Amino acid sequence: MNPALETLLLPFSSEGGIPVPGRCLFLGAEAHPLLQGWQNLTAVQPHKPLADAWRRAGFTAPVERAEGRWPVVLLLPGKSRDEILASFALARDHLEPGGTLVAAVPNTLGASRFEKEFARATGSVHSIQKNKSRVFSATDDGTWNEALFAEWRTLGEPRPVPGTSHTTRAGIFSHGEIDAGSQFLVAHLPADLRGKVADLGAGWGYLSAEALRLAPGIQRIHLFESDSRALACARTNLAEWGDRPVFSWHDVTTGIPGHYDVILTNPPFHSGRDTDVDLGRAFVTSAARALGRTGRLYLVANRQLPYEAVLKAEGLGYERLAEDKTYKVILARKP
Ligand SMILES: C[S@@+](CC[C@H](N)C(=O)[O-])C[C@H]1O[C@@H](n2cnc3c(N)ncnc32)[C@H](O)[C@@H]1O
Repeated sequence: MNPALETLLLPFSSEGGIPVPGRCLFLGAEAHPLLQGWQNLTAVQPHKPLADAWRRAGFTAPVERAEGRWPVVLLLPGKSRDEILASFALARDHLEPGGTLVAAVPNTLGASRFEKEFARATGSVHSIQKNKSRVFSATDDGTWNEALFAEWRTLGEPRPVPGTSHTTRAGIFSHGEIDAGSQFLVAHLPADLRGKVADLGAGWGYLSAEALRLAPGIQRIHLFESDSRALACARTNLAEWGDRPVFSWHDVTTGIPGHYDVILTNPPFHSGRDTDVDLGRAFVTSAARALGRTGRLYLVANRQLPYEAVLKAEGLGYERLAEDKTYKVILARKP
């Protein structure tokens, strides 16, 4: 279990702490047994595997966007600086006057630094350290530094990718820039891609946009992505392609529906900040199983990642189309 989640709930179980609220918004919601007794819990969780786990635990399905204000807002604010500060502002926007904002950050992400930032905006904070994380909370007494929250709000706004017409936002993969691995893959894609295509872990849509530009034979390209914020950017970035792109908020590790003439992927291999090669392996397995009889799988990965063994285990033949100091592009097919 996420240690910051355990810590986040400490103020509600400690003596003299915050009473369990009758209504609560949870941004970055993750399931915890202690929340089972809470009433009127509204959850926002952009990551599909975590949103699925939340629903499986019996809670009401997360909403994509919160509307309204709550007396208590709980926050697990993400990983990067801009994402964390922008989510402080978002949480603030959903707080009723006199309400309490409670946030928890792991030490590895700079808990003490973010507590100081939070205190700059709210004045005094109540803080507890446990489980290598900190939870800090403050109650709106009408004196909060609204100019600072306004500054942080801008960090969550759409951000252009230089040299392109694309936009991204803080917190999603490769925001504000094109991923070098994906760029390497695009440089080695042929123009004869055609038919029904899938892009696994499509992010803000770079690979799909380039594939559509390169290959007029593509009839449909299905973008599967677990981060709803990235998928929302992809929708905007691919709007010019009409109904050829199809967008799915989907956990690729569970497999994907259908079979495809072409599959493109730059598989993720991090969960949070930790390397998670099994995540990449699960992507390659899903890709291999969704390949049509004459389908082609193009994948890019850091050179050391052991995806060839997965392709072999799935009975695919493969060749290395290109490599440089960092990346390899692999083409795989059924024999
Ligand atoms: C290496 S990035 C590639 C992104 C995009 N193709 C690009 O070129 O910018 C991998 C993507 O997989 C997504 N991802 C991570 N876990 C996933 C999962 N279980 N199911 C679907 N997508 C996932 C990440 O959010 C990220 O956008």
